[in-house]
Amino acid sequence: MKEIGVGILGFGTVGAGVAEGLLRNRKLMAERLGVDIALKGIADLDITTDRGVAAPDGVLTTDAPAVIADPDIRIVVETIGGTGVARKFVMDALNAGKCVVTANKKLLAEHGREIFDTAAKNGVDIYFGASVGGGIPIIRVLREGLAGNQIESVHGILNGTCNYILTRMENEGAGFDAVLKDAQRLGYAEADPSLDIDGFDTAHKACILAALAYGFQPTLDQVQVEGIRNLDGMDVRYAADFGYRIKLLAVVARDGDEVEVGVHPTLVPFTHMLASVNGVFNAAMVKGDMSDYTMYYGRGAGRAPTASTVVGDIGDIARNLAHGETRYTRAVPSYAEGKVRLRAAGDIASAFYLRFMLADRPGAFGTVATILGRHDVSISAASQKAGAEGAAEHVPVVALTHKAKASNLDAALAEIKASGVLAADPTRLRML
Ligand code: HSE
Repeated sequence: MKEIGVGILGFGTVGAGVAEGLLRNRKLMAERLGVDIALKGIADLDITTDRGVAAPDGVLTTDAPAVIADPDIRIVVETIGGTGVARKFVMDALNAGKCVVTANKKLLAEHGREIFDTAAKNGVDIYFGASVGGGIPIIRVLREGLAGNQIESVHGILNGTCNYILTRMENEGAGFDAVLKDAQRLGYAEADPSLDIDGFDTAHKACILAALAYGFQPTLDQVQVEGIRNLDGMDVRYAADFGYRIKLLAVVARDGDEVEVGVHPTLVPFTHMLASVNGVFNAAMVKGDMSDYTMYYGRGAGRAPTASTVVGDIGDIARNLAHGETRYTRAVPSYAEGKVRLRAAGDIASAFYLRFMLADRPGAFGTVATILGRHDVSISAASQKAGAEGAAEHVPVVALTHKAKASNLDAALAEIKASGVLAADPTRLRML
């Protein structure tokens, strides 16, 4: 049986999981794939910390360039993260004729084109299955399983840390900071957790999904990104009163030649399948023109689940290499230059949840309703949380709207703020 050598750059949470998976399931994979995958090198600056996996003798090194240059290593796995040295090593490996597997969503969201073009130029593969959805092979689904579909939309819960925090806030009324610390301890959160809670990690993943679904990859600054840092527990409770759960959703959707790519804390009805996705679990619901809705669910973060997808990618490449093929044109997005463009944020229509800290005096809600109406925003339900929270002379009033154009709603909210009936800026959340 042919042997294919693998080198891992970055022996942290995911890198150690990949090493463990390759070692533990080597025989099983050889039987399944008809190729023996041999772990030949693991590079990290720190090779003394115990990672809970016994690396074979002579495999650990601090010399990443030597792993890339090793002629016995044909697949280089990048599990360093970030866009500094990781980008350099990925480019070096591709230029050295190595196939690359990476779980690095930030790298692909920011430098995907450069990396994919370099892979193509060198006739090698780059796989990135674990960059979105951790243990869920959603990249493979879009690339292969649904390849015959026009993708109408993808709605995803794609950040395990945020979903874990939201679930515990809802179930236990837990405080944001304490729950974030638990997520860090469990290895879910990014080194810089602002990437998680401010929505940017989800946005990186949405950019990658957009590239796969539409051949159109927006830059991060073109994506509307709202995180959960400022989400108030009050809104989690009031949403529940109306039968909704708040989830941080990525939206990638197409309408004609316009594509919407965004990340928003969103009210999801209890009855919707995405509302049942709790804790560190992720899910993506994809609507194809032929498949209709399909949904994919699993652990979106953590050592073994993320490593599972990386190891699957290694297996696919190893099988190709053993049979003398590289298939880079199949693995990367095919960019459809100029065929679609990003939809302007103001043109996006949605139903909204609004909370006003409203003066408790006659006519105050009338003022709000009149201004909303004047801007073509229609209320579908409203509730005054009398005496619940806030300053005594102001009460929380929640209104749900029918579908409204975002620019109309924002104009109405600016006018409501200026009218002097509010004690604080209104809260505005999208509804699914
Ligand atoms: N920090 C990420 C998360 C890891 O919480 O989902 C997986 O991409």
